[in-house]
Amino acid sequence: DFSSLKLSRPELFDFEGVSMVHYFTDNWEKVKNFQARPDDILIATYPKAGTTWVSYILDLLYFGNDQEHQTSQPIYMRVPFLESFFKVISSGTELADNLPTSPRLIKTHLPVQLVPKSFWEQNSKIVYVARNAKDNAVSYFHFDRMNMVQPEPGNWNTFLQKFMEGKNVFGPWYDHVNGWWEKKQTYSNLLYLFYEDLVEDTGREVEHLCSFLGLSTSIEEREKIIKGVQFDAMKQNKMTNYSTIPVMDFKISPFMRKGKVGDWKNHFTVAQNEQFDEVYKQKMKNTTVKFRTEI
Ligand code: A3P
Repeated sequence: DFSSLKLSRPELFDFEGVSMVHYFTDNWEKVKNFQARPDDILIATYPKAGTTWVSYILDLLYFGNDQEHQTSQPIYMRVPFLESFFKVISSGTELADNLPTSPRLIKTHLPVQLVPKSFWEQNSKIVYVARNAKDNAVSYFHFDRMNMVQPEPGNWNTFLQKFMEGKNVFGPWYDHVNGWWEKKQTYSNLLYLFYEDLVEDTGREVEHLCSFLGLSTSIEEREKIIKGVQFDAMKQNKMTNYSTIPVMDFKISPFMRKGKVGDWKNHFTVAQNEQFDEVYKQKMKNTTVKFRTEI
């Protein structure tokens, strides 16, 4: 378990043009050569875009009727974090290789150009989840404050300046969402979802997922899932709320923090918002992907 993990906030460094910390690059040979399977489902996100939410939805869609599976292991063991390497628990690649269930659900935060090539060769299904930059930045700020294996975020203004420069773990938000959006144009087994859509109508997005994955679930089953994946339900659920990880200090900020669209308005000053919009326009000028910062 994590309890013996020495708390050390890592430094950012450049890794193939992307800001990273060693926890996600120390196992790179194994990550790079990871053997994907045709029925693997890769859940790809920029950190704090709704990874856990979509992981749990997929886990319930495939394994919701398996009580033992649902209660014996927290979600981060059931859906291995591919590039993670924390030494005190098995690496993401080991966990994935040893998953007893099939299909395998695998999580990654890698920008599209760093994804192991066998996923493309095997034509595995990929679900990408994106969240608007402002809420994503706010969520990431609070996460870096409470998670002792993330770099020190500094105060909100410092963090926001770094966010605009892409000096975060997994690099710039802009390149991440744009890179994956571009990939979607040529790789048909990729579903690109938005956090804002999930908040607006979870049921509609679950149906969307089912049709992408070729799953037929009954209305009753879907309704049960929709209830189970509501913010409050996941916040109470020990298997999904990350309360079992000691490197996170919930007294600073809980993992299940707010789960809202538009919380950025409680953080951005008018000046920060204007500066952010200016930078955003520049960085997003060549893409067709559109985000909603309120619903
Ligand atoms: P906030 O910090 O804005 O609350 P990830 O899983 O990628 O780390 O993303 C975490 C973010 O998703 C957090 O955002 C968390 O509260 C939110 N989240 C997790 N489960 C959710 C749910 N069921 N409904 C809405 N938001 C959820």
